[in-house]
Amino acid sequence: MCGIVGIAGTRDVAPVILEALKRLEYRGYDSAGIATLEAGKIDRRRAPGKLNKLGAVLQDRPLHGHTGIGHTRWATHGKPNETNAHPHATAQVAIVHNGIIENFRELRDELAAKGHVFESETDSEVAAHLVTDYMAQGLAPDAAAKKAVARLTGAYSIAMIFTGHDGLLVGARKGAPLAVGYGDTEAYLGSDAFALAPFTNRVSYLEDGDVVVIRGPEAAIFDAAGRPANREIKVTAAAVALVDKAGHSHFMAKEIHEQPEVVGHTLAHYLDPAGPTVRHLGVGLRETLAKASRLTICACGTSYYAGQVGKYWFEKLGRLAVEIDVASELRYRNPVYPKDGAALFISQSGETADTLAALREAREQGQTIIAIVNVPESSIAREADIVLPTYAGPEIGVASTKAFTCQLAALASFAIAAGVARGELSDIDEQRLCTSLLEAPRHIAAMLRGEGQARALGEEIAKARDVLYMGRGASFPLAMEGALKLKEISYIHAEGYAAGEMKHGPIALIDEAVPIIVIAPHDVHFEKTISNMQEVMARGGKVLLISDSDGIAKAGDVWASLEVPKTNAFVTPILYAIPVQLLAYYAAIAKGTDVDQPRNLAKSVTVE
Ligand code: G6P
Repeated sequence: MCGIVGIAGTRDVAPVILEALKRLEYRGYDSAGIATLEAGKIDRRRAPGKLNKLGAVLQDRPLHGHTGIGHTRWATHGKPNETNAHPHATAQVAIVHNGIIENFRELRDELAAKGHVFESETDSEVAAHLVTDYMAQGLAPDAAAKKAVARLTGAYSIAMIFTGHDGLLVGARKGAPLAVGYGDTEAYLGSDAFALAPFTNRVSYLEDGDVVVIRGPEAAIFDAAGRPANREIKVTAAAVALVDKAGHSHFMAKEIHEQPEVVGHTLAHYLDPAGPTVRHLGVGLRETLAKASRLTICACGTSYYAGQVGKYWFEKLGRLAVEIDVASELRYRNPVYPKDGAALFISQSGETADTLAALREAREQGQTIIAIVNVPESSIAREADIVLPTYAGPEIGVASTKAFTCQLAALASFAIAAGVARGELSDIDEQRLCTSLLEAPRHIAAMLRGEGQARALGEEIAKARDVLYMGRGASFPLAMEGALKLKEISYIHAEGYAAGEMKHGPIALIDEAVPIIVIAPHDVHFEKTISNMQEVMARGGKVLLISDSDGIAKAGDVWASLEVPKTNAFVTPILYAIPVQLLAYYAAIAKGTDVDQPRNLAKSVTVE
């Protein structure tokens, strides 16, 4: 989603901003732009498409000046063309914005009536005009900015520069992340610490309602009430090196191949191999789990499917009642939260707007807030009572892979802890489950060594117009995740179904042209899933079975199969995620799509 960079600097900043924007590319965007103050005057360059287009424009017509802002835009209001690209500017101010200004129509009407002329279809442009209007009434730029942002509803982070005010940069945050970076002679604004890493590792995160006024290297932060606010300066661990593909043709391929290592790191954090047992997971967690009357799980996208797998684990191992919903539904359906309830929010980025809003709602309803996040300094991590980190490292590919398996590793450990805390699991059970879990990285590595078969089958899948996935038990969420992965990056229509539900509708879709991917570990559900598979095959369905050697031998003749190592049924979701990812990846490669930045998608979704 939109990325913001701002610099109040001591050198020509446009090339530096362009480089910093590249570090935000992973968020997903469809146009970009930069504005600087050259001899005190605002000048800007914008271009639809990727940053190399903006780079070419800048090469043709360079921008000079020591103060500037840059933006990668993920279109919400209006097409991704040059006119709608940020920065938006008037003669007095240029702004970049991430989020959605919900009351922009009222504000635009009000300002248009006063003679303001709008050139774009965006909600964002109204912010530039509102600031300009307050400046025309005699307010100084920072005062005008504060007054303007106070009138905006919705979610936003904004950065602004002002005609005639070299070195002045104003930022504001409500609902969408914005970090302030401190250098020796310069100061910065950025959507995340990763964007700022080449400049500084000293960063403060703005809180909702904050406005920061940066003059030269000094930054003054004010809270929603306008009072000076102290926001801790943290030394971040964000890597300076632009994460590279390490010899892979895509970040997604690299991230798929990192899984043995990062799932291992995540497990190492949660499990003590000496027992093996689950380590102490965070102050108060076991007590919370022991007394929780219910666990509410909430997330979006792939993280939601990880949560769905978690539901099976918590119910089975901990006899803990679980309610789960996607964040955009949970936050608006007025759910009934129990007394002594806990709520778990799962997010790779830790910034997903709906998940964050649902978290705040659950807090208001008295729930203990637990978060599984991959970005430790994210908003969701900062607002949770108990943080369970994943150690996937930066995930750049828009389609989540390694973050998903790391979320599963954290959830599995957490579910064992719940079982122990609630008296449902004995020490022996705990050891047995932890032992199996610790074998997951080795099994994943073995599957990746044999990925050639998945490649060939992915190429076959690429020929299909529709693909169905089915699974039972904890393999059902994996079926949905498999379908999501395929549609995200190959643009092939795919659906994930509970195996037993196929006959209640989707079976009508089946003919020889529709591959059906059956996720069927050789577990208690196997026979039933295979019956559902037979029903599909009897109607001409082309089945690709994913199972272990016993399952494949038992299932008989199928169109194709992919073998997964035998393991404890509890661990299968982590292992079966791998072939599902590989199939989607190779189908997308065969179709020649933009695997790392698929059309229309964003990595970090900071709007509702
Ligand atoms: C976007 C991404 C997905 C991700 C979802 C939730 O849609 O494209 O890959 O699963 O957001 O993101 P989160 O950062 O909260 O896990």
